[in-house]
Amino acid sequence: MPIYCISGGVLRLIKQGKVRDIYSLNDKQLLFVASDRLSAYDVIFPDPVPGKGVVLTSLTRWWLDQTKGIVPSHWTGNDREPLRDLIAASSGTLPVDLPKRAMIVERCDVIPFECVVRGYAYGSYLKQHPGVKPMTPFDEPLFTPSTKAIEGHDETVPFEAMRDALGETADTLRDLSIQMFRLGTDLCRRAGIILVDTKFEFGRDRNGGIKLIDECFTPDSSRFILKEDVERGVLESYDKQIVRDYVDGIGWDRTPPAPSLPREVIEKTAARYQAIEARITGAQGE
Ligand SMILES: Nc1ncnc2c1ncn2[C@@H]1O[C@H](COP(=O)(O)OP(=O)(O)OP(=O)(O)O)[C@@H](O)[C@H]1O
Ligand SMILES: [Mg+2]
Repeated sequence: MPIYCISGGVLRLIKQGKVRDIYSLNDKQLLFVASDRLSAYDVIFPDPVPGKGVVLTSLTRWWLDQTKGIVPSHWTGNDREPLRDLIAASSGTLPVDLPKRAMIVERCDVIPFECVVRGYAYGSYLKQHPGVKPMTPFDEPLFTPSTKAIEGHDETVPFEAMRDALGETADTLRDLSIQMFRLGTDLCRRAGIILVDTKFEFGRDRNGGIKLIDECFTPDSSRFILKEDVERGVLESYDKQIVRDYVDGIGWDRTPPAPSLPREVIEKTAARYQAIEARITGAQGE
């Protein structure tokens, strides 16, 4: 397990997700670092996508500012200065771009459901509902929670299963997720983007309060389609679609190890992540 030494102690890696490295800062806070790793079909690829972690962090910060009126998040805010202090204390062991790819967040108990909200039929919804046309709009945002699998793929569960596990909290999380999805839909529309679906995670803070955790409206957690593409009948989502198309094309069986990606696929993917960030944060100011 990598450990960064900083004056006054060490930073211990407590969890490595598919994309993020999470370090313990103190008993209340975590250092939440978005790497450039890319995963598709729940398998991590050997080649990083340059700049991806910076885009994920910048978008998450931007969105958490927009959604804080609906539900508070785990982000402590104003963390650039403490992040710079951490780098200074690490004698060159922490990456200098840390303030751009990391956030200082409140340690929470993760509520083990993924709160998926859909505005249109796409992805796993289509697989579960054969015969439904891709991009069929729903009259109201549709809440389709899934379990958070420790290993392997998350599984969609009926809302009742979430309520059995969480009681009334399930209703609260559903309502918060739908409110945020409506806000996300409006802000994306202004940027010329159609928000197809997304996923939120929630946790409980030390006082038992509900916090939005993890990432928010990034291309890893959401499916975005450009308005102009939809208008000309192209249904291409602005995320790792290019990678999925490439590996499907070479017949990869979606089990590890993932194949190495051609340079062009990596570059195009990186450009898509950057384009979404520029459109969203650029259209409406940082
Ligand atoms: N404030 C928080 N406190 C504790 N854990 C958090 C917090 N915010 C996010 N997490 C957890 O940190 C991890 C983020 O890492 P990453 O996005 O790489 O995970 P992932 O591969 O999607 O993993 P998982 O399958 O566990 O969701 C997730 O497991 C998420 O639930
Ligand atoms: Mg994740």
